[in-house]
Amino acid sequence: MESVKSQSYEVHINELAKAALNQHVAQNKYSKIFLLVDENTKLHCKPLFLDMFESAIDAVLEIPSGEEHKHIHTCLQLWEQLSRLDGDRKSLLINLGGGVLTDMGGFVASTFKRGIDFINIPTTLLSMVDASIGGKTGVDLGSLKNQIGVINQPQMVLVFPEFLKTLDERQTKSGYAEMLKHGLIQDKAYWNDLTENQNFTDPACIQKSIAIKNEVVLQDPTEQGLRKILNFGHTLGHAIESYCLDNPNKRTLLHGEAIAVGMILEGYLSHELRGLSRLALDDIKKGFLAHFDRVDFNEEDIDAILQLLKYDKKNSHGNVNFVLLQAIGTAVTDIKVPEELFPKAFAYYEE
Ligand SMILES: NC(=O)c1ccc[n+]([C@@H]2O[C@H](COP(=O)([O-])OP(=O)(O)OC[C@H]3O[C@@H](n4cnc5c(N)ncnc54)[C@H](O)[C@@H]3O)[C@@H](O)[C@H]2O)c1
Repeated sequence: MESVKSQSYEVHINELAKAALNQHVAQNKYSKIFLLVDENTKLHCKPLFLDMFESAIDAVLEIPSGEEHKHIHTCLQLWEQLSRLDGDRKSLLINLGGGVLTDMGGFVASTFKRGIDFINIPTTLLSMVDASIGGKTGVDLGSLKNQIGVINQPQMVLVFPEFLKTLDERQTKSGYAEMLKHGLIQDKAYWNDLTENQNFTDPACIQKSIAIKNEVVLQDPTEQGLRKILNFGHTLGHAIESYCLDNPNKRTLLHGEAIAVGMILEGYLSHELRGLSRLALDDIKKGFLAHFDRVDFNEEDIDAILQLLKYDKKNSHGNVNFVLLQAIGTAVTDIKVPEELFPKAFAYYEE
């Protein structure tokens, strides 16, 4: 399957990924090679990785899985371990895991000794089609998502859909939400394929999503304009995710589950403010609710979520800016939303 070319690196899939990894490591003469895993990828993914990796690993670093560990304290432990293990500027860090691990591993590598090489090997659907692509690395600040970080590109991203065999269904669907987003913001035919008949874990679908994200990032690597369209559903979605993470009475939502709600809500705002047709809006809601359980929000929840919005990273000069859809496949950025529309959007979601 064809590789996807980014500015400074490539995303390779399956056999090409294996060849690219071994060739890169053989050519680069790294002083130390570190493998970063969590308890799940150590169990399910490390054996397959070691089978295909032809060089020696100097040390395996392990972090606990889960968003609650995507924190500067975990980074501190990793920097200390790298230092204790004589990591130097010519070391390589291979990140084998989901988005939490690739975001944090990328950040640790980008800052250790002012930056060492890293390779992302995403093992969840979400990290394959989204988190490991585009160079955003970082950690949360308390429950505020991704507040600390840098944009820095990996040496390469290697995608092996086989890893998905051990991923549970809820996690797999979390990645599906981002794939649906790719259709909504850029490609109506892809949205139709995904919602009507495609098996979304098919390598061809994974490659299509990677290509869409990559194309957007290539045109705007530092999110000055176009890249913002990737945030569709994320402005409200992130606030919902943070709120549920912080609130013991609420079911914790996975990233994809939260942005699935966000995309229905922001779809409603698109209908009100940018002329997205009612038919398209209902199609979006139906597409998501076919795979994601509806979440109950009471008035108190909605107030708290709207409070959290103001901390969102997409805010500039104190305004909350939204990415909205003009139609399925066409997104527009920097839209201000009158506050009175938010409760109506939640009411439409709950209908
Ligand atoms: N950098 C970006 O551009 C970007 C984009 C989207 C999301 N993200 C971030 O990605 C994170 C979410 O990533 P995620 O959804 O991959 O979650 P995750 O990294 O928490 O992984 C989900 C769970 O699956 C386990 N796991 C991973 N691979 C497995 C496998 N093959 N088999 C069995 N279990 C496996 C992990 O240990 C974890 O328990 C969030 O922190 C989000 O902010 C970043």
